[in-house]
Amino acid sequence: MYKLYEFPTILDTRGSLIAIEGDKDIPFEIKRIYYIFSNTMNSIRGRHAHKTLKQILICVSGHCSIIYDDGIKRWDIRLSKPDTGLFIGPGIWREMYGFSKDTILLVLASDWYDESDYIRNYDDFLTYKKMEQNNGTISSIE
Ligand code: TYD
Repeated sequence: MYKLYEFPTILDTRGSLIAIEGDKDIPFEIKRIYYIFSNTMNSIRGRHAHKTLKQILICVSGHCSIIYDDGIKRWDIRLSKPDTGLFIGPGIWREMYGFSKDTILLVLASDWYDESDYIRNYDDFLTYKKMEQNNGTISSIE
């Protein structure tokens, strides 16, 4: 099952503000942020998993959908609120789609960009998950 974080909004007559502190409001230190915007019609992003990276995805403007796949079960999550963050830990296949014209998808990440942390092929992802499971079984027997 996936986990959503709801961040408190500090509201006054001027508008709204949300602050997120690494290791306090989310379960990792933030080492990198990036954001996805000016998305073209029907574009799909992501389509990969990470071996170690942890991320929080927040749709700070507009809306989009995220496919969240743990190798056994798949969820389709719609993000449309700047106060809601989807946690994606290691070993989760994700696809982002259904962007509105004004979508800005903010990503908080636990580490710097590292291509070797990516699994970009879905079959490789399933193999990786099976290997992970088998390793777990072996170490629980030992
Ligand atoms: P990609 O992984 O395809 O993005 P998405 O997850 O949205 O589908 O990345 C697109 C390009 O941007 C690719 O050449 C790698 C580069 N990139 C960086 O240089 N730094 C980063 O932090 C990220 C996420 C991507």
